[in-house]
Amino acid sequence: MYFKQILDERCGCASYLIASRQSHEAAIVDPSIEIEQYEPLLRERGFHLRYVIDTHVHADHVSGARKLAAQHGAELCLHESARVAYPFRPLANGEELPLGQLKLKILHTPGHRPELISVLVMNPPRSPEPSMVLTGDSLLVGDVGRPDFGGGDASAQFESISKLLRLPDWVAVFPGHFEGPCGKGMCGRPSTTIGFERLYSPLLHMDRDPFVAELTNGVPARPLNMTAIEATNRGVADMTWAMLTSSPAVDDVGLDAIDSAPPNAVILDVREPEEFAREHVPGAVNVPQADLATRLDEIPRDRPILTICQSGTRSVRSAQFLYQQGYRNVTNVVGGTRAWREAGRRVDSTEAASGPLRITDSEWAHAGARTVNTAETRIPSVG
Ligand SMILES: [Fe+2]
Repeated sequence: MYFKQILDERCGCASYLIASRQSHEAAIVDPSIEIEQYEPLLRERGFHLRYVIDTHVHADHVSGARKLAAQHGAELCLHESARVAYPFRPLANGEELPLGQLKLKILHTPGHRPELISVLVMNPPRSPEPSMVLTGDSLLVGDVGRPDFGGGDASAQFESISKLLRLPDWVAVFPGHFEGPCGKGMCGRPSTTIGFERLYSPLLHMDRDPFVAELTNGVPARPLNMTAIEATNRGVADMTWAMLTSSPAVDDVGLDAIDSAPPNAVILDVREPEEFAREHVPGAVNVPQADLATRLDEIPRDRPILTICQSGTRSVRSAQFLYQQGYRNVTNVVGGTRAWREAGRRVDSTEAASGPLRITDSEWAHAGARTVNTAETRIPSVG
């Protein structure tokens, strides 16, 4: 067999190429949108792409699965419960996809997302047992996939992880992520084994209730541009541009920059509405990072933008995304709202918000902004 893990450093994602050296049939799992990278691998070894599998509808990066499958005439595979607006081969729990002498056995492991599958790689001539499992965002290295954004279920995740832990110790685990927002405490290694995780992953020693509590505590910080990315991956929008594809050097500024900002500057708070409601820098306006791409028309291009979040991580990527979209007068407030509060400065709070806030003209005016276009970008839902 042939097996290769391909790491995408920008989004912390892993994709996989599995092939039979005998039949030259290949499968690619969770391909990145940069599908050109797979071409030399396939071509140089004379592999014929038979399956393209997405373990789930991704919320943090645009999938290249549809494009790749179309280009190679391969079958595009997802779990049968996937709610997408394009045709695909529906996979059932326990189904086996033949790949030369190999078999890819599908295990439904919902939790991070309802349609999430793991793929067991079997090589029957060598062993009746699987040698490896691709876990998507179920079992991660030192962690499990977050269930608290995008339709997940912590209790289902507990069941799925329990199912995976019944595999033999030696089974090698290759997750869909080694970094990024889909897990809170990933170790950073790109692979592990069932036995190691069973022994040393703190979450895997927990009973159901504390496990569920641990996975759902705190406000889930949804990934950058999640709304646009998920809609694109479901086939109900085409917003591939919503992925951050560059790392422009956006200037960092200190808290004093807020005091000395010109009156027309916008303090753009990219945290979740609940966090913003609890406390924020006076005059700041809230567009969560998850909704930046779909609400770009609300963010004025002709005035200075200072992005701010809780501690300064989300705001950097948000500022970089705005820069990528042509905003040039954008800076990032280092230390975020936490540093602002810890410096003893006044914070404002608002009534707890129940959903994404729309910025009204008067709020922009409060922030020193002129009237902006608030036309909404609507993402249609799948029936
Ligand atoms: Fe995910």
